[in-house]
Amino acid sequence: MNQSTITEAAAYINDKLTNTPSIGLILGSGLGVLADKIENPVTFSYKDIPHFPESTVSGHKGQLVTGELEGRHVIAMQGRFHYYEGYSMQQVTFPVRVMKELGIDSIVITNAAGGINKMFHPGDLMLITDHINNMGDNPLLGPNDDALGERFPDMSQVYDEAYLRHAKDCAAKLGVTVQDGVYVGNSGPTYETPAEINMLRKFGGDAVGMSTVPEVIVSRHAGLRVLGISCISNMAAGILDQPLTHHEVIETTKQVREDFLTFVKEIIRTLPH
Ligand code: 6GU
Repeated sequence: MNQSTITEAAAYINDKLTNTPSIGLILGSGLGVLADKIENPVTFSYKDIPHFPESTVSGHKGQLVTGELEGRHVIAMQGRFHYYEGYSMQQVTFPVRVMKELGIDSIVITNAAGGINKMFHPGDLMLITDHINNMGDNPLLGPNDDALGERFPDMSQVYDEAYLRHAKDCAAKLGVTVQDGVYVGNSGPTYETPAEINMLRKFGGDAVGMSTVPEVIVSRHAGLRVLGISCISNMAAGILDQPLTHHEVIETTKQVREDFLTFVKEIIRTLPH
């Protein structure tokens, strides 16, 4: 994953584009429908893009969709690469590098996550105010390419404060309730034990999932402004007296889909430049 692979992937895409995208979108489990709302779409299957890994998990389409959403030029990942699938952190985050090379300066990263905070309910949307990288890995390990970003990136303000305020304003205007909180990134593929969830709560986590943190780290390394949104698809282990299933994750995200779509579209429409 060096500069030439990034350049080749971006060149393949750029050849077929007439506009420069300014906003990147990563759409999590069950949330990929947003990409279907993109107008004048130009679509790229991951398998056709040079150096792109291939997507495997159910509920995820593997394509990049470019075009206009609410009057803005966007590029959306419909389906992402997960660390638990066996991809390296560099592979998981390669699309972020490519989207940056294509010209984006902001990125909206979404996911389905388990609720750790007992005030949350399945179906809640949560703005990510900070994260805990609990994945045991980091996409920036290894030699640093100074052309891509600095060796020791600051992580004291990862989630753009102006975007957070903007998202809260949009929620208020639409009458959509949003929580905010700290996202814990775990490697998966197992869901957590109740003991692990108790630990993560004491550590300050509000929601837990198996994605987002790698892409957010690379986004900040690349100087992108980041907005993160979790859809709380279920409560994490030990909170409710029921086992966790991937089915529940998909079903709940289906139910909040309309709110999610309305919310993200409004954020995009009016996102500060
Ligand atoms: Cl409870 N845990 C993790 N790691 N990922 C999730 C989840 C829980 N619910 C949805 N995704």
